[in-house]
Amino acid sequence: MRRNRTLRNAFAIRELVAETQLTANDLIVPLFVTEGTNVREEISSMPNYYRLSLDNLGKEIEELWDLGLKSVLLFVKVPDSLKDDACSEALNENGLMPKAIRLIKQVQPNMCVMTDVALDPFSPHGHDGLVKGEEILNDETVEVLAKMSVLHASAGADFVAPSDMMDGRVVGIRAALEKAGYSKTGILAYSAKYASCYYGPFRDALDSAPGFGDKKTYQMDYRNRAEAIKEVLNDIEEGADIVMVKPAGAYLDIIREVKNAVHVPVAAYQVSGEYAMIKASAERGWINHDAAVIESLTAIKRAGADLIATYFAKDVIRILYSK
Ligand code: PBG
Repeated sequence: MRRNRTLRNAFAIRELVAETQLTANDLIVPLFVTEGTNVREEISSMPNYYRLSLDNLGKEIEELWDLGLKSVLLFVKVPDSLKDDACSEALNENGLMPKAIRLIKQVQPNMCVMTDVALDPFSPHGHDGLVKGEEILNDETVEVLAKMSVLHASAGADFVAPSDMMDGRVVGIRAALEKAGYSKTGILAYSAKYASCYYGPFRDALDSAPGFGDKKTYQMDYRNRAEAIKEVLNDIEEGADIVMVKPAGAYLDIIREVKNAVHVPVAAYQVSGEYAMIKASAERGWINHDAAVIESLTAIKRAGADLIATYFAKDVIRILYSK
């Protein structure tokens, strides 16, 4: 008989043989930036998560850096008055995104700044691309995304993170960055991004729910697995430095297949709905908050994610490191 319990008998041996270690180095912190001063608005469907104005963003960056959190992923909330069909605010040199990037680089130049590249926050329709009638235009959108990426790079972004799922955006962005002289700016591609109900709270955060239809003509069908590998290999060929699977928790099989198929870092995004589910059940006392945070993220890492974007990043630090 094999005594499999030998390796589980006591804390010390369990620690010694544990295969997966979640650490601060794995985490990317998503941040929501909004207009105004001294704004710190809690997002109703994301308890304890906030939209921050630039002054508060600066403070947040200092705090994150002190906690050992060294990468952020920026999203901006755009007022309705600045949304138009051409998504022109996405290309405004003095828009919220370039301002936020410059501010972060002033406050903490070593912070790795990643920026969301997609048109949904800037569009009255809430879609990730330019819209004609009810169609989401592909190539026209890619042109805007490429310009947007150059703008973010010129403000100091280290990585641009296209989350739009248009075809050809990675090669379009890479070419535009090279042409503008930003050869050091990387691309974190949301490569296997599924059309998911788990994005609901995020769309509250940015007020970016689609005004018509859904995102199924560009985001992936969650019944598909082979397609994820196709998308990922395609993005790597086009020049992606890091590929991402999104959402994470319900897509652990995809994370593992991607990890086995590629030789670039694999990221996973534990999205807003995953956050909200843990928060809501913990609030009711139905689940242990801290245990669920660590278990969900460790499972994502075990599945094969080298880096994880999560709204729980600060919780992880508190739970793992403050004894
Ligand atoms: C949009 C975008 C979304 C998220 C990141 N970028 C929402 C969507 O595709 O509708 C979701 C993130 C989350 O739910 O936490 N480009």
